[in-house]
Amino acid sequence: MNHSGVLKRAPSSVMGLYGEKKMKLLDKSSSAYLYQQVIDFIEHQQKIGALQPGDKLPSLRKLSRQFEISVPTVKQAYIELERQGQVAAKPQSGYFLQAAQARTLKPRPAKWAQCAPVEVQGRSMIEQVHAAVHLPDTVALGISNPIQAHPPDKALARLMRSVLSKVSEKAVSYGPVTGDAKLRMQLAFRYQDQGVETNPDDIVITNGAQEALSIALQCVAKRGDIIAIESPCFFGIIELIETLGMKALEVYTCTEDGVCLEDLAEAINQHDITACLFSTAINNPLGSMKTDEQRQEMVSLLELHDIPLIEDEVYSEIYFTDTKPKPAQLYSEKGLVMTCSSFSKTAAPGYRIGWLLPGKFEEQAKRIKRAQSSSTPMLQQWTLNEYLLSGDYDRHLCVLRKTLAYNCERMRALLADHFPPEVCISKPQGGSVLWLRCQSHVNTSEFFQEGLAQGVSFAPGVIFSPSGRYKNYMRVSFGVLWGDDIEMAIKVLGKLVFEHTSKQKTAQLMEKP
Ligand SMILES: Cc1ncc(COP(=O)(O)O)c(C=O)c1O
Repeated sequence: MNHSGVLKRAPSSVMGLYGEKKMKLLDKSSSAYLYQQVIDFIEHQQKIGALQPGDKLPSLRKLSRQFEISVPTVKQAYIELERQGQVAAKPQSGYFLQAAQARTLKPRPAKWAQCAPVEVQGRSMIEQVHAAVHLPDTVALGISNPIQAHPPDKALARLMRSVLSKVSEKAVSYGPVTGDAKLRMQLAFRYQDQGVETNPDDIVITNGAQEALSIALQCVAKRGDIIAIESPCFFGIIELIETLGMKALEVYTCTEDGVCLEDLAEAINQHDITACLFSTAINNPLGSMKTDEQRQEMVSLLELHDIPLIEDEVYSEIYFTDTKPKPAQLYSEKGLVMTCSSFSKTAAPGYRIGWLLPGKFEEQAKRIKRAQSSSTPMLQQWTLNEYLLSGDYDRHLCVLRKTLAYNCERMRALLADHFPPEVCISKPQGGSVLWLRCQSHVNTSEFFQEGLAQGVSFAPGVIFSPSGRYKNYMRVSFGVLWGDDIEMAIKVLGKLVFEHTSKQKTAQLMEKP
């Protein structure tokens, strides 16, 4: 078994690749760039089976010695292979060949028939998925908690101790309604760096992104109003809309670049949409991401119709692309975009610190925040402010992104190994979850309890739709601390999917006359 304990060991011929004997495989007199020749060499090794998905590539220094070329040249080749998605860099471990065998979930070719707005029904399955997070001896693959892959707990604990020693009785007092001014300043700087004209007074600190979303919805909509959402959509948003008595309208969301603008335009024509609540920078559960140009087009379309966009960007820092997606707020000309985010997916979900950039709805947002929860715990805000100031947060984000991108490929390979070959798996552009489509007759909710009984939780597809779509889908998290338990858990889930695929198929055949 290789490093992950998952993929097959490379055949012995690969050992020559790692050996110290000099190889004269590069033609230095050729007009082809040396780094390109390194790429060709790696690709050739793959073709002949000497390197297999999941294998570790030789270290930069080793290959540079073997080929008698410089380390930066080898690095250039590896970076190019990484850009092409052929290899993944794992922090402190090196470069690994990507798994190629997962069947990638492709966008559905046909457009959807239009959906009707629905009053979201309460879902006991959501409750069960939440409860499963806290079950002892259970591998929790049902909840998205990316920081588990690289927890910053020690750094934060040290900072919190230091903050606590300085603030004395202030630590137990009420804080300002809109939150700590210094933290708001840090956040404003970050948005300014991305071109958004904002200042600390434009930001409201909230209890996680969930409170920011709740305030944003209440700023622009009331009971009975129609809120357009992505489909599939994070179940917390579905529950929130239900709690506020609003109606959800599902809009077709592509696995690659999110809500289809044509479908959105059609939905606007057919329904009296009060607001849209989307994650254009990495949707949960699809991991889809709009390009900056597409995001700009969407904002223009919505502002043309005076429809506010509530942008949930909790995953926007966890991108696997070359650059961070630009905030939708950057493209707003009428102030109708409201940005909701938090530190939950990047640093500390338990701190419950999020924020809202309310655009032109600033006054309403501050009033609702005051009425709803008065303020947000200060100790956590001071700690996060110190974390941002120190530069450690950004360093942590770099490692977190790489670890998650690597986990993502490992998980796809593992799923491809243990699930029926008909199961298609998403290829997310960021985040920490995979979206799986089983055969149409499989109902993933039916084996949720069986999974728990065997020590594994996942999120059944049905909870990602207010109208009960996605029964044959499931969401599996790769935001995990990788270990043998993960392989065990995927084997358990794979077995359940196999059993339910054949059980239901047999039942269907028996029913046929
Ligand atoms: C898409 C999305 N939005 C919002 C939230 C809520 O974030 P928070 O924990 O900061 O309230 C989550 C959490 O899972 C999420 O996945």
